[in-house]
Amino acid sequence: MMDNQTLSLIVAGAELVAPGLRRIHLVAADGSRLPPAAPGAHITLALPSPAGARPLRNSYTLVSADPEGGYQLIVRRADRSRGGSRHIHDALAPGDAIEATAPHNLFALHSQAKKHLLIGGGIGITPMLAFVAQLRSRNARFELHQIAAPDETAVFETLLAPRAGERIHIHAGRAGCDLAALLGAQPLGTHVYTCGPAGLMDAVEATAAALGWPASHVHREDFGAAGGEPFTLRLAASGIEIAVAGDQTMLEAIEAAGIDAPSLCRGGACGVCQVAVHEGTPEHRDHFLSEAERASGACVMPCVSRSRSPVLVLDL
Ligand code: FES
Repeated sequence: MMDNQTLSLIVAGAELVAPGLRRIHLVAADGSRLPPAAPGAHITLALPSPAGARPLRNSYTLVSADPEGGYQLIVRRADRSRGGSRHIHDALAPGDAIEATAPHNLFALHSQAKKHLLIGGGIGITPMLAFVAQLRSRNARFELHQIAAPDETAVFETLLAPRAGERIHIHAGRAGCDLAALLGAQPLGTHVYTCGPAGLMDAVEATAAALGWPASHVHREDFGAAGGEPFTLRLAASGIEIAVAGDQTMLEAIEAAGIDAPSLCRGGACGVCQVAVHEGTPEHRDHFLSEAERASGACVMPCVSRSRSPVLVLDL
């Protein structure tokens, strides 16, 4: 049913947990065991593209992963969906077959942490749900702050189901969550994990750095960058030119042109998609390259980054 990289799955169930949030339950198409996955792991689904071209590839964090019982995801309908989340919301139905990568984990809980501080925003709740289940089962010390749109607080309350004595707080908007006070009050040895809008994660990182937290104690999970201005890619080996639309990543444009390019996280974290730049100026949006590497402009992560120049020439 699968090789090392690709899983043949089938939709065992799907339900709307809130307007715009759909939970999907996936099991192995042949009924066999699925690969295990620790909390924080993600899979990449191959979804039909609206134009009938090569499939779109979207990565989703597993809310739960049981090799016998299957994987669960929660997918938000994206306002500017290129078709991936729209397909999951409007078309995907129980019994449908779907291909996915095996789970990869770039956002794991740190086993040596004295305490785990979880800060989620919006759909960034998905890894937090997996973390909370694991931390509860280990009886580990944790605190969760989830920022939600005011009309979603009740849904997040239901999903997280706080237990008596737990420090689980759901904030209606960012204003209720004072990051400096929160990060400043943590005991030594705490690790912080953040997932959600880039502005929230940047603020968590900046606040932690300003308070002297070691960078190794600060973890983030990106869901990929928002769009930007269209530009043109030129592939040095073939001379092929590819137009990158404003709502498309470079990696998606390369794949849509029928060119295989390596990728793993599709969120600027793993470094697998790194490619050298021959000409042009990248606009870096990843969290993998060092400051010096960014400044040099010698390479780029096409899964999230874009171009400041009208044309970017890549070593592909
Ligand atoms: S695929 Fe992981 S950084 Fe691009």
